[in-house]
Amino acid sequence: MSMINAALVESFDEPPHVRTIPAPEAAVGQEVVDVLAVGVHPATRGIAAGKHYTSPKNLPVPAGADAVVRRADGSLAFVMPMGAGTLAERIVIDPATAIPVPDGTDPAVLAATMNPALSSWTALRTRVPFEAGDSVLVHGATGNAGSTAVKVARHLGAGRVIAAGRNRSRLDDLQAEGVDAVVRLTPDEEATAAALAEAAAEVDVVLDYVWGPPTELAMRAVLGARTQHTRVLDWVQIGGMGGDALTLSGHALRSNAFRILGSGFGSVEMDVMQREFTELVAAIAAGGMIVRPRPFSLADVEKAWAHQDAPGERTVILL
Ligand SMILES: NC(=O)c1ccc[n+]([C@@H]2O[C@H](COP(=O)([O-])OP(=O)(O)OC[C@H]3O[C@@H](n4cnc5c(N)ncnc54)[C@H](OP(=O)(O)O)[C@@H]3O)[C@@H](O)[C@H]2O)c1
Repeated sequence: MSMINAALVESFDEPPHVRTIPAPEAAVGQEVVDVLAVGVHPATRGIAAGKHYTSPKNLPVPAGADAVVRRADGSLAFVMPMGAGTLAERIVIDPATAIPVPDGTDPAVLAATMNPALSSWTALRTRVPFEAGDSVLVHGATGNAGSTAVKVARHLGAGRVIAAGRNRSRLDDLQAEGVDAVVRLTPDEEATAAALAEAAAEVDVVLDYVWGPPTELAMRAVLGARTQHTRVLDWVQIGGMGGDALTLSGHALRSNAFRILGSGFGSVEMDVMQREFTELVAAIAAGGMIVRPRPFSLADVEKAWAHQDAPGERTVILL
């Protein structure tokens, strides 16, 4: 029997461990592919810790939510089976779900960038009626997904783009890259609310990576300062770095054309994502939006799990 190496989640309380397992075999309509690079994203860690809505019910399974792979015909592809696991030298895929990757694309860069970038791409392309010229507030713009959202919004034709976040030097970087306004989120709630009100009162879309109490404050600030109450404001919940729940006054929903919705796996049909991500892969391959990979070997998967990414980098396992 042919064997391969894989990083298996054996317990939700431990990092994945490298084990030797039987090589996968393709059933009819499936394809065995070589895995080249796997990003270790917040969702990847959440799935392996049993804390994500796509976490597996039964263990052990390979860790990894997505992968850049080499197909049997030699071409590159991006796949994202989420809870099914990708951190193995070879995996089985449904060829219909493989997103083509242009020749010459760096697998590590794509593995680092796809997950952060797809969060805003999906939201703007499939969840809200976003049009070129619309203004966008990115709430939580200093992480990988938030800072990529600024670039994605621009790429998709946004007008005014406002970046709100905690980390001053990351905000400075975003300003240097051409964002229209930055808002520093600080423990001073009054100052934060005033800055949000001044910069973002009339936005069309909020891409929210924070949620929780900071978003309660941001919603009050933006809605309280809005002058065009019937102008639609779509507030898209994408990440929960500041908490998973919030309290919202019914008044906020009645007194403005204010809509709250989420964007993620589960809120968008898979075939729609497939279509959208082909274009996103091409945009990343062209170099317009990049998260810096921090590479680890498969043998060092436990070290990779313990590693805390510096701002702007993403742990990637290279196989
Ligand atoms: N729904 C989707 O499709 C989708 C896809 C990808 C990611 N996500 C989610 O998006 C979130 C961010 O992912 P990521 O890849 O950007 O992770 P990341 O690179 O680790 O960035 C997270 C950032 O959140 C910021 N942060 C933490 N607590 C905060 C708070 N209370 N207020 C403001 N900012 C805060 C931190 O930046 P500072 O320290 O600079 O403040 C941190 O760098 C995660 O929840 C992830 O699961 C969702």
